Amino acid sequence: MALVKIREILDGKCENTNVTIRGWVYRKREGKELIFLLVRDSTGVIQCTVKKASPAWSEAEKLTIESALTLEGTAKQDKRAPGGYEISAEAVSIVGLAELFPITKDKSEEFIRDMRHLWLRSRKMNLVMKVRAKVLEYAREYFEKESFTEVSPPMFISAAVEGGSTLFGLKYFDQNLYLTQSSQLYLEILIYSLEKVYCIAPSFRAEKSRTIRHLTEYWHMEGEWPFADMNDLMQFEEGLMEHVCQKVAQNCQKEFAELGADINKLSEVKAPFPRITYAEAIERLKVKNPALKWGDDLGYEDEKVLAEDFGKPFFVYDYPTAIKAFYCKTYRDRPEIALSVDMMVPKIGEISTGGQREEDKDILIKRMKEQDLKPEDYEWYLDLRRYGTVPHAGFGMGLERLLTWMLDLDNIIDSIPFPRTTRRFYP
Ligand code: 4AD
Ligand code: MG
Repeated sequence: MALVKIREILDGKCENTNVTIRGWVYRKREGKELIFLLVRDSTGVIQCTVKKASPAWSEAEKLTIESALTLEGTAKQDKRAPGGYEISAEAVSIVGLAELFPITKDKSEEFIRDMRHLWLRSRKMNLVMKVRAKVLEYAREYFEKESFTEVSPPMFISAAVEGGSTLFGLKYFDQNLYLTQSSQLYLEILIYSLEKVYCIAPSFRAEKSRTIRHLTEYWHMEGEWPFADMNDLMQFEEGLMEHVCQKVAQNCQKEFAELGADINKLSEVKAPFPRITYAEAIERLKVKNPALKWGDDLGYEDEKVLAEDFGKPFFVYDYPTAIKAFYCKTYRDRPEIALSVDMMVPKIGEISTGGQREEDKDILIKRMKEQDLKPEDYEWYLDLRRYGTVPHAGFGMGLERLLTWMLDLDNIIDSIPFPRTTRRFYP
């Protein structure tokens, strides 16, 4: 009586043997002589049949959807069963009988979102969370391979990183603090000690825009390192994307197949990526949108149009300084242009922003003042330019935007177990 995971049976490792599984009732269909159960565990779903003559019958009859159970029986191949295997049950024991489960087929998307704590048991969310874990694993693997050290930045911060309009303020005893929008400035501190650093941590944005690509709390993969320029940065980012996409393409085939997502687009992700300047992007977009002019920020719609042309990840670089954060380095001979780069993908548009950072203290102070920031709020940041300043670069990539693209999800909220948006923060 071997205790097995359902995946082992579906992989053909338990044929004609007596097995025990533990899990939950996913579906149930009851006939006069036969009960069909679909039982799920963390690894998969398997069909189980209970015959009227079996000693398991009376317990099986009582089972309700989402009841927890232990089931023992003989595993065998059966072409008619979903997944190709079935267990003919000989014993069923109820572990936790479920009340009438509220999520049923006819329920609206809105209702399902309100039932997130129960919906996370669905096959879809189970599979998405598994791919998410793999993406994190492969991203870390790439950073480590490139000799980066993982660091742990703070979430409570005292000065804005990405501008005031998306900053969450909070009471911190009798002070006013904020939730971090990006760990970049803290990574910049750490490069003077550890050189190549990265973090995978939450970032918060008081983002009112209700689009398919915005959350108020998201996971941010950020890297920063010294003695680096724009070319080093883009090479690293495309290397990271290639590594993560290739590894997922190799190892998540079952998940993609069950989710109905196209895994081939991931095998096609290979460095180098196309690179165009912001000025070229404007020229391309003007064909469809003549009102657009140099200096305008690219919106979601513009990015989608650009991305449709490429059909794969690409870079847009050299943005106007005026639409970029204070820390962006500018060309010495063209101060109106910032050494800043976005990676974009089809349907989502921007998934990362990075660039070289201003390493000159006086230019940095000037840029802060232009953006109505108080240099005295950033004394520690200016110290980094006082003591051994160095050219450096880094980037931040939104994990959920990456996943939404990879898995072709309709909305970013399905890429994270507990999405936070303007309206959603329960449970
Ligand atoms: O473009 P952003 O604002 O850049 C930064 O925060 C830089 N300080 C990063 C750095 O250089 N270390 O944000 C970076 C990425 C975006 O490209 C996007 O993928 C994601 O973070 N992002 C969001 N994801 C979900 N919901 C939101 N509201 C997001 N805002 C940004
Ligand atoms: Mg950006």
